[in-house]
Amino acid sequence: MEQEQEKKLETILDGFNSGDENIISVLQHIQETFGYVPEEAVHWFAEKTTVPASKFFGITTFYAQFHLHPRGENIITACCGTVCHVKGADRMISRLRTELSLKGDQDTTRDGMFTLETVNCVGACSIAPILIVNEKVHGNVTPDQAVKKIKSIRE
Ligand code: FES
Repeated sequence: MEQEQEKKLETILDGFNSGDENIISVLQHIQETFGYVPEEAVHWFAEKTTVPASKFFGITTFYAQFHLHPRGENIITACCGTVCHVKGADRMISRLRTELSLKGDQDTTRDGMFTLETVNCVGACSIAPILIVNEKVHGNVTPDQAVKKIKSIRE
């Protein structure tokens, strides 16, 4: 681990005392600092404390707010709830994945510009299908419109 990264982790370590709430708070700090929760940061913390790495990973994977991989500059979230599914979310997601050249289980573009993720019902079924682009909710989105949104961010 680089010295600069270690310095940042030491700052987070100050004031740490074990306890589940504190672990969540530490993970939030790590994510704020690095943009995600790097595996090496978890191992570093586990070494410096009495908390096993498995506990950090358990919490990280349980809460959707934590990410173990770097995310893109732009977060595109497609709803996969039942109503969105019936209204064509799969076609929209498929077009987006093609547009973003995402293969297999890859969710972030190679250039780090976009992350495409899916969620279950976001509670806006009346305007399904839903696409959330950088926290802005769009309803009744067609596959063409979804691709246009990506293109307009690129331009
Ligand atoms: S199923 Fe997508 S908003 Fe409810």
